[in-house]
Amino acid sequence: MNGVILRRAQERDLESIARINAEVFLGDRDRPESAREWVECLWRAFPLYQYLVVESGGELAGYAGWQLHGGFHRAEPVIELDQIGIDSKFQGQRLAPQLTHYSMLELADWLKKKNDRIESHITFVVWVYALNFNAISVYAKDFTDGVCGMCTQFGNRAQVMLRVRLPVVMPVREK
Ligand SMILES: CC(C)(COP(=O)(O)OP(=O)(O)OC[C@H]1O[C@@H](n2cnc3c(N)ncnc32)[C@H](O)[C@@H]1OP(=O)(O)O)[C@@H](O)C(=O)NCCC(=O)NCCS
Repeated sequence: MNGVILRRAQERDLESIARINAEVFLGDRDRPESAREWVECLWRAFPLYQYLVVESGGELAGYAGWQLHGGFHRAEPVIELDQIGIDSKFQGQRLAPQLTHYSMLELADWLKKKNDRIESHITFVVWVYALNFNAISVYAKDFTDGVCGMCTQFGNRAQVMLRVRLPVVMPVREK
């Protein structure tokens, strides 16, 4: 699509990320100042937590927040897509699938440089409400192992976990 830019977030994006967060998620719905505090905390947690964004026509249209689990040097690393939010006026334009795909490649590249103990795969997971069909339709494209888990963390609304294990070829190690 014309005018779509996928990139890592910069500090100047935090205001827009918070605005979108307060628009599309329940946690700080309609509380942009509280969303800003939340986003700021996660931003400061880099590289444990990493934001990537999509711009469309020069506007920040959406973001994805990813979290590494269990340390930086696991032989079987796990990265979770914590949140992906697209501004409502940009929804339905296939921006989320592009951002998800781009993020996975970017994070895999980043992790291969950071972690010299990866054995054979990087595992990506995402938890999503089982009835959030729009999000599931996005995730099913890249989290191709499909549904691998289920929980009810927030009230009684069931969530399912989708997963993909991305094969990684690492250079020969000396030790
Ligand atoms: C879910 C979400 C990330 C999808 O992003 P997107 O860029 O709109 O993704 P797509 O354009 O690929 O649309 C995905 C599906 O949702 C549908 N859809 C998207 N926006 C819609 C809308 N506003 N109304 C109705 N359907 C919509 C699309 O038609 C598509 O359906 P299909 O796969 O059957 O054709 C986005 O809608 C969003 O931010 N939702 C609120 C936050 C959320 O639920 N995040 C995911 C959980 S972390």
